[in-house]
Amino acid sequence: MVCFFRAPVKLNRPDPHPATRPTMAKYTFVVMNGPNLGHLGERQPDIYGSRGMDALPGLVQALLGPRAADVRLECFQANGEGALIDRLEQARADKASGVVLNAGAYTHTSLALADCLAWIGLPCVEVHLSNVLARADEPLRRKSFIGRHCIGVVAGFGMTSYALGVQALLHHIEKT
Ligand code: DQA
Repeated sequence: MVCFFRAPVKLNRPDPHPATRPTMAKYTFVVMNGPNLGHLGERQPDIYGSRGMDALPGLVQALLGPRAADVRLECFQANGEGALIDRLEQARADKASGVVLNAGAYTHTSLALADCLAWIGLPCVEVHLSNVLARADEPLRRKSFIGRHCIGVVAGFGMTSYALGVQALLHHIEKT
């Protein structure tokens, strides 16, 4: 698997796969994080876990085994709604195979992100680190504007939610 980070995501170690290296991967998935998800591992680890995005390649490798070689992950994080929409439009232009999206709080508020997902025609899996449905003290988190434009939702498994999202996307693409 090839995994590289296009944007302001901090890695604890250098990316072993420079973006310039040609890849034989069959599919490119864009893994996107919205606002306040640029410091995973540091932000409220009791809710969001202690692992960062740098854990994702290993989790995907463990889940997909040799199939991981078919997947190239492009990771992106932005705090602004517009930057996220720009990146989704770029994914469409690049003919990416699909998107794994943790839109953070925009999940619960953003008609603009929902409108974008509605037209770009890319399969998208909505993911969350926490189980948003179980956060009973904050019922707003149970509402998703983007979910109706996604092929499915994975929530509550920390960083493993993203790896499961990648697996689900691969499964979806290959069965359709
Ligand atoms: C989150 C859940 C959202 O409600 C919250 O605003 C986040 C993170 C999650 O991954 O659990 O920023 O998307």
